[in-house]
Amino acid sequence: MKHSTIRQETERRRNAAHDSAARRAPRLGKLDARQRLLALLDPNSFEEWDTLVVHQCQNFGMEKKKIPGDGVVTGTGRIAGRTVHVYSQDFTVLGGSLSMAHAKKILKVMDMAMRTGTPIIGLSDSGGARIQEGIDALAGYAEIFQANVLASGVVPQISVIMGPCAGGAVYSPAITDFIYMVRGSSYMFVTGPQVLKTVTGEEIDQKSLGGARVHTQKSGVADAAFDNDLETLLAVRKLVSHLPQNNQSKTPKADIVAARDQLQLDTLIPENPNAPYDMRDIILNLADGADFTELKADYAGNILTGFIRIEGETVGVVANQPMVLAGCLDIKASRKAARFVRFCDAFEIPLLTLVDVPGFLPGKDQEHEGIILHGAKLLYAFAEATVPKITVITRKAYGGAYDVMASKHLRGDMNYAWSSAEIAVMGAKGAAEIIFRSETDPALKAQHIDDYAERFASPFEAAERGYIDDILQPSATRDRISSSLQRLSSKKLENPWRKHGNIPL
Ligand code: HXC
Repeated sequence: MKHSTIRQETERRRNAAHDSAARRAPRLGKLDARQRLLALLDPNSFEEWDTLVVHQCQNFGMEKKKIPGDGVVTGTGRIAGRTVHVYSQDFTVLGGSLSMAHAKKILKVMDMAMRTGTPIIGLSDSGGARIQEGIDALAGYAEIFQANVLASGVVPQISVIMGPCAGGAVYSPAITDFIYMVRGSSYMFVTGPQVLKTVTGEEIDQKSLGGARVHTQKSGVADAAFDNDLETLLAVRKLVSHLPQNNQSKTPKADIVAARDQLQLDTLIPENPNAPYDMRDIILNLADGADFTELKADYAGNILTGFIRIEGETVGVVANQPMVLAGCLDIKASRKAARFVRFCDAFEIPLLTLVDVPGFLPGKDQEHEGIILHGAKLLYAFAEATVPKITVITRKAYGGAYDVMASKHLRGDMNYAWSSAEIAVMGAKGAAEIIFRSETDPALKAQHIDDYAERFASPFEAAERGYIDDILQPSATRDRISSSLQRLSSKKLENPWRKHGNIPL
């Protein structure tokens, strides 16, 4: 073939790949696969690969349905100047369904991300396995799952669900570190409404089965949801700004933005120890620019997780929230926080733990559903973490929950308490009921409770034993965290060699 003919033919095929509008009318608020990448990446930074790839399927007349690119746009680009590898499924090509060729394109960018130590961001919009390809499509998925697993803890992996994500396809996002969804237009489920109706007789629509609300509020599968494609992709850029390129590199240092007036913290804890207050206020106060990138905000509200910066350095925050279930640890909160702690540890992001926890949530349901096992996840995650760990007890730290929440005994590096802290094995009333069970005089019983509270509902017992390193004025906390982080940046701590631990899953 002549060079000029090849040039013309290349252009023709490239145009065919790009012409999504000719295949399907754009939907309101939805960008097409390439527009999404342009919104996600720095201007002029996207380099597309494998635009001319087509599938090799000969079944059911598929040999006549070849569209260059085969339903996924792949390549590399930059976010705030840092390289990332990306793929974006194109629903206008056979419903974004996954063929072996489509899978190989995704595997190629994942492989390059691993070779270069850079994050992988996948935008999902797909009807699942390319039905005409049968087992080849399944093989393609499994190879992607395998690559996801090998990349886990090596480079950050982010999934953005921007349309359908159904069947076994959901397991690639599930293995990745973060899942963002678009409200109204994305859904995820293993078994869709049609099959449900046939198998169980249950009737439910896609949104109610696996929409953004379900996964951000009920299942906890997704980390956050946003109103449209653009907002979601801008949120991904913000998330990436907190992450290192890989498990050997540091998080990027940001410009320092002034924090709020720290004196506000001195009056934040109510006099009444049982009155709730919003732990988010404390986090916002401590953060540069009062900026908190919260994850799973609408799930297990009794614990808060997310990223802030202190003096420009990213810190992962885990905090009990007294506004919800009085900040008790339950199954959902334990799982939510454990996964976050493990992410931070895998990627060397220091942990700040803010503690106000009256204990584990008591109850038959919690026990029967396995709080023993799930609570142990959080304990395990904090205990195995070797990143810098700074803990501040703002108020209650009772019982096993005290131990779990990054206590000194789990290799906390710096453990501080405010003067409002109550650190004890259990609440004064419960303790006095047990120790003085035989006491029948109500006045004397009340006295015992007061005595117990006087002795233990303070930070002194723990401070006398060195279990906390200092009692801080709340307004001095940010400075102490900042200086501790600087010192701890040279921290070296290794766990004993093993193939891997056996976290209670
Ligand atoms: C081949 C597919 C496809 C698929 C959609 N299309 N899904 N082609 N394989 N999996 C095609 C449609 O035939 C149609 O082609 C075009 O994409 C657009 O689809 P529509 O149905 O018109 O779009 P919409 O009404 O928006 O519905 C979207 C949808 C629906 C809900 C996703 O397409 C759907 O239910 N698809 C099948 C989903 C599914 O069962 N997938 C397989 C799951 S099994 P034309 O030519 O008409 O435009 C699986 C196993 C993975 O994924 C296991 C991994 C371990």
